[in-house]
Amino acid sequence: MTRRTRISGVGSFVPDRIVTNDDMSQWMDTSDEWIQSRSGIEQRHWVEPDNTTTSDLGLEAANKALVAAGKTPADIDMILFATLSPDHEFPGTACFFQAKLGVPGIPAIDVRQQCSGFVYGIAQADMFIRGGMADTILLVGAEIHSKGLDLSNDGRDVTVLFGDGAGAAVLEATEISDPATQPHIYSSHLHADGDYAKELWIEGPSMTFAPNRYDNDWLERKAQYPKMNGKTVFKHAVTRMPEVAMEALNANRFTVPDVDLWIFHQANLRINYFAAKQMGIEEDKVFNTIQKFGNTTAATVPIGLDEALKAGKLEPGMLVGIAAFGAGFTWASSLVRW
Ligand code: ACO
Repeated sequence: MTRRTRISGVGSFVPDRIVTNDDMSQWMDTSDEWIQSRSGIEQRHWVEPDNTTTSDLGLEAANKALVAAGKTPADIDMILFATLSPDHEFPGTACFFQAKLGVPGIPAIDVRQQCSGFVYGIAQADMFIRGGMADTILLVGAEIHSKGLDLSNDGRDVTVLFGDGAGAAVLEATEISDPATQPHIYSSHLHADGDYAKELWIEGPSMTFAPNRYDNDWLERKAQYPKMNGKTVFKHAVTRMPEVAMEALNANRFTVPDVDLWIFHQANLRINYFAAKQMGIEEDKVFNTIQKFGNTTAATVPIGLDEALKAGKLEPGMLVGIAAFGAGFTWASSLVRW
């Protein structure tokens, strides 16, 4: 028997408020046609403009994941929280989340790898569990983008892409003797290239500002809003996602047809079509949710897993490939026997 990690429950949550592409076109110069043809997005969910935080959304998803795994908060011995839209600059959102979940004392760790954050979190959880430092880990990916987007024309290339939402998974130790049938994580593969950090980023507030990080003309320059070089992101995403997905297959001596279902990060439907085409994946093996939810960065993968389960597309015994690419640049994959 070998100690491994399995995903024993997932859950997801999006706020009730639906923002359509037509809603967007009331605030900025855009159209349903432009957004759908460039990204595949039909709508996204945004929180009401109230005091809801990212950890609140995470808590809703986490409670569902705990129920799905047959666990209570008391069973959890570590929290990993992936987000690029933290409740506060410090302390980490994992700590605010921990207080809401009511489990003081256990480690609470923030994961800051943006769109790849959840997959980085899977890798970390797997290593903590395989190494014996934890038995049951709650991994959350949650975002509130809507409170940080430029609703004017200046931000239209980025703003139309992002949605709010959360997903969570319970990962726990398992003893396996037959990897071909028993649920577990085979491996995860992580990469980053900071040379591209400014291709998709929020500039301010920043230590590069002087004499302190709130000086400078950054608010007038709108440096508080995300900026993206869309074409560069696109070009790298369609290369890196297939590359890191193949890395996971090769590491475990699988080939593309062996995989039953692909959960790719949801940045853009066109990126996922390109990636799938490049790898020779049959269209119905890629489960996309961007049409309904937009890009929820760290939450896309767990929302995808949960939606695939609800749609009956994800069943026990399946081989599941997960791959993501995002700001940093960062990219990552995991291969999972469900
Ligand atoms: N509505 C209407 N017009 C717009 C909008 C909008 N929302 N946003 C930009 N435009 C305009 C631009 O101003 C530009 O106009 P110009 O030619 O007069 O200067 C024009 O549209 C650009 O059009 P295209 O060249 O057709 O745009 P492109 O095909 O590059 O699509 C997009 C833009 C969708 C951002 C694309 O580059 C892309 O998908 N990039 C990948 C990045 C991505 O998906 N990021 C998501 C977040 S990152 C992540 O999760 C990995």
